[in-house]
Amino acid sequence: MANAEIGLHRETAAARRAGRSTLRAQGGGGASLVGPFLDLGYVAHEDWAWKNYKSVVLAFAEQTRRERAARGLAGPVRLLEVGGGRDPLISLAEAEEAGLHVTINDIDAGELALAPEGYGHALFDIAGELDPAAQGCFDLIYSRMVFEHVANVPKAWANCHLLLNRGGVALAFHPTLFAPPFVINRLLPESLSARLLRPFFPDRHEGVQPKFPAHYDWCYGDIGKVGAMFDVIGFSDRLVAPFWTHGYFRAIPVLREIDAAFQSLARRRDWRAFTTYAFSVARK
Ligand SMILES: C[S@@+](CC[C@H](N)C(=O)[O-])C[C@H]1O[C@@H](n2cnc3c(N)ncnc32)[C@H](O)[C@@H]1O
Repeated sequence: MANAEIGLHRETAAARRAGRSTLRAQGGGGASLVGPFLDLGYVAHEDWAWKNYKSVVLAFAEQTRRERAARGLAGPVRLLEVGGGRDPLISLAEAEEAGLHVTINDIDAGELALAPEGYGHALFDIAGELDPAAQGCFDLIYSRMVFEHVANVPKAWANCHLLLNRGGVALAFHPTLFAPPFVINRLLPESLSARLLRPFFPDRHEGVQPKFPAHYDWCYGDIGKVGAMFDVIGFSDRLVAPFWTHGYFRAIPVLREIDAAFQSLARRRDWRAFTTYAFSVARK
C-alpha cells in the first residue's frame, strides 16, 4: 500500500471510530436504530451523509422486510418519501429489486406532477391534517432536504408517527442550526438569499432545483435538543446522526479556509451546536 493510501486508510479508520463514539453519546437512546449506521461505516462528515443517505434508507427497508417476514406478513415493504417531488430518492428499479412499494408525497401539486410515473402519489402537507385512512399505512418514511422547509416540525413528526405501522421508522435528512450558512439563510429575506445563492449554485433555479423558503424549525444535530420532542410524540426510540462541514463558502477565499478549520475543530470536539446536517431517525 502506498504511503498516501495508508494515511487515507488511517484517517478513515479514525473517523469511523470517532463516528461510533458520536453515535453512542446519544443520552441512552438509539440502540435499535444505530445498526445501519455502524454497518455502513458512519463518519460525521457531510460527504458521508450525501453519499450514504440512500444506503441508510435501503438498510432500514431491508431491516423492516426481515421483521415483516419474521411476523409472517406478506407483500412489499411500504415506503413513503415526504417531499420527494420531482426527484425521488429511490428509483423504481431499485424499489422493485428490493421488494418495496414507494409512494411519493409532496405539498406542491406541480412538484408531484414532475415525479416519474410508476410510484404511488400522495399530495398533502406533512404538517397538516391527515386523511384518517392513511394512518398506519407505511413501514418506513423518509425525506431529504424537506423538514427545514416545514414551519411546524413537531406536527410533521407527529404525523409520521400516525402514518407509521407499529415498529416503523421515520428518517429525515436536513440541514441544521447553527451552521453559519443556514443561520444567514434564516436571517436574510428570501428574495435576497435566493439572489446570493445563484452565483455559487447555478443549478438552483425553478427549472432544475428551485430554492424553497426555509424555517429550520427544530432542525438541530443534537439529540439533547430534540429527544424530548420525539418522546412526547410517543416514539419508542430515536437517534440523531450529526454531520459537520458544508460547501456554501467554497467560492469565497479566506472565509472558506477559516470556516473549514472551524468545521474540522467542531467535528473533532463534537460541538453539536455547529453541526451542518443531521439524519434524524425515530421508531414508532
Ligand atoms: C428542497 S426540495 C427537496 C426535494 C427532494 N427531496 C430532493 O432531495 O431533491 C423540498 C421539497 O419538499 C416539498 N415540501 C415542502 N414543504 C412540504 C410539506 N409541508 N409537506 C410535504 N412536502 C413539502 C417541496 O414542495 C419540495 O418538493
